[in-house]
Amino acid sequence: MSAPRTLVVGSGLIGAALARRLVPGGGAVTLASRHRPAPAPQSYGARWEALDATDAGACARLLARLRPDRVVLVHGPSDATWCEEHPSQARAAHVAVAENFTALARDARIVLISSDNVFDGASAHNAESVPVRPANAYGRAKLAAEQALLAGAPGAVALRVSLVYGHEGADAGKWLNFFAVCAHRLLRGEHVEAPDDHWTTPVVLPDVAEVTAALLHTPDPLPPVLHLGGPDRVTRAEWATVIAGALGAPAGLVVPVPRARTRYASRPANACLTSEVLSTLPATEKITVRGVAEGARLLAPAFTGSGTTRGTVRS
Ligand SMILES: NC(=O)c1ccc[n+]([C@@H]2O[C@H](COP(=O)([O-])OP(=O)(O)OC[C@H]3O[C@@H](n4cnc5c(N)ncnc54)[C@H](OP(=O)(O)O)[C@@H]3O)[C@@H](O)[C@H]2O)c1
Repeated sequence: MSAPRTLVVGSGLIGAALARRLVPGGGAVTLASRHRPAPAPQSYGARWEALDATDAGACARLLARLRPDRVVLVHGPSDATWCEEHPSQARAAHVAVAENFTALARDARIVLISSDNVFDGASAHNAESVPVRPANAYGRAKLAAEQALLAGAPGAVALRVSLVYGHEGADAGKWLNFFAVCAHRLLRGEHVEAPDDHWTTPVVLPDVAEVTAALLHTPDPLPPVLHLGGPDRVTRAEWATVIAGALGAPAGLVVPVPRARTRYASRPANACLTSEVLSTLPATEKITVRGVAEGARLLAPAFTGSGTTRGTVRS
């Protein structure tokens, strides 16, 4: 069998982590996005191509050149607040990218990284069999992309992932994940306001990369929709307290507030995912997804050894 050629569309938080996970497995790993990411993917053995994935012609040219047998759609817009303010642009972008790859990469295994925001948050736990009902523009855009992809590419998979967290440092730009913002603030001795009525099942970045890589590696047919959430269902305030503990910061710096008073007001109250399927698939049954305490212990050294930033929370 020849070495796999993987195209990862979107070179942000998740795309870059996935590329780093795939490179040691061999084959060509190419990240694509509109702007050159930092650090350069070449520094860890991947390649990068400039691409606006909403441009069908540009996608066709890139696919003809790379001929990938695995495609991961992990592009933006990813900020739910921006999507709420620009609902038609958000939907158009997500649907256009899904349609472009559905039409052009029929022979590839395509995995779309989707979101818990396809649920309205009424249920404390959302497994694959729970009916979708997005309550915000971001969720509607992601659901429309899932539907466009799965209607046109029968072997594709929509992997709905809960809130993702990982290390982002001072040079990561303006929008940082919740864990990173909490960590940087707590290490500066600043208060962190976090909702005590917004539940999530956070999943640490290397585990997202591990599960996605496993879905790409397997030749087996896969269910069209899969869920990936961490084992712990926590409020953001509880989670911030766990982060403080792992960093040795005072728990009193975490200030619980109502979700309605925060930028999470448009988010589902329960942004929680569970899976009825993932642990039964040969490709993923052996993967143990880490809980928030283990994830915090894993990430703490990267934050305590790094500089601080005044980045703004994005998710
Ligand atoms: N982070 C989470 O907690 C989470 C959870 C569940 C699902 N997801 C989904 O995963 C995806 C990626 O999330 P992320 O956190 O990695 O986002 P991110 O860090 O904001 O990265 C998004 C990437 O997409 C690229 N992009 C945006 N528009 C593009 C376009 N038209 N063509 C090509 N590339 C484009 C961006 O680069 P340029 O701007 O340079 O093009 C960037 O590299 C999103 O679709 C999000 O819905 C994320």
